[in-house]
Amino acid sequence: MDSAKQEAGYRAAERVRDGDIIGIGTGSTVLYAMERLQQRMYEEKLTILGVPTSYQTAYRAVEMEIPLTSLDAHPRLDLAIDGADQVDPQLRMIKGRGGAHLREKCVVDAAETFLVIVDESKCVTHLSGNVPVEVLSFACTSVLRRIVDLGGSGEIRTGSGKDGPVISDNGNLIIDCRFADIPSPEELEMKLAAIPGIVESGLFTRYTDKTELMVGKK
Ligand code: A5P
Repeated sequence: MDSAKQEAGYRAAERVRDGDIIGIGTGSTVLYAMERLQQRMYEEKLTILGVPTSYQTAYRAVEMEIPLTSLDAHPRLDLAIDGADQVDPQLRMIKGRGGAHLREKCVVDAAETFLVIVDESKCVTHLSGNVPVEVLSFACTSVLRRIVDLGGSGEIRTGSGKDGPVISDNGNLIIDCRFADIPSPEELEMKLAAIPGIVESGLFTRYTDKTELMVGKK
């Protein structure tokens, strides 16, 4: 799938115009977009400013000498480029495999256009399976109970390289929720957002009007 991710990432980078201020998402597909942006900065003297959505992206940008700014300095972005875990035909999606969906959603909200870059395996007819949510640790158990009330189940994400739970870039926990079926992703996003202690879910259903999808093929 790497060549498909590269194709999508490289194509997205071609969409960036000189002077653009862009949100830079997180994950392996975005790293390809950054690679091509770095080439364009060198070859075409392209000037851009990026708002990174994670430590991963920020550290990579520093290595690549892609200049960074913050959402506070630039609350309006020309473009946000990001990957996704699942995208349905209505351009609704699930994100957050890497636990970066909170900042990713802030950046998408600020952007005029949301360019989603995926390989073919991410395109589904119905969103299903794992929905990550970022949760205030104080409210973790009550949130788990509320997820059960919604007909799902949740598990605190644990990682490698550290015992115990994964702590997000924002100092919160990640709960991976499972729902047997997601008949209305919009409704589920709203219901999750209404649970005190959930900071943000990985469901992205409100940005379809400004979403453009680029699917890379092998
Ligand atoms: C980060 O938390 C996620 O939302 C990623 O953007 C998503 O998982 C896509 O990652 P890949 O490009 O690595 O598949």
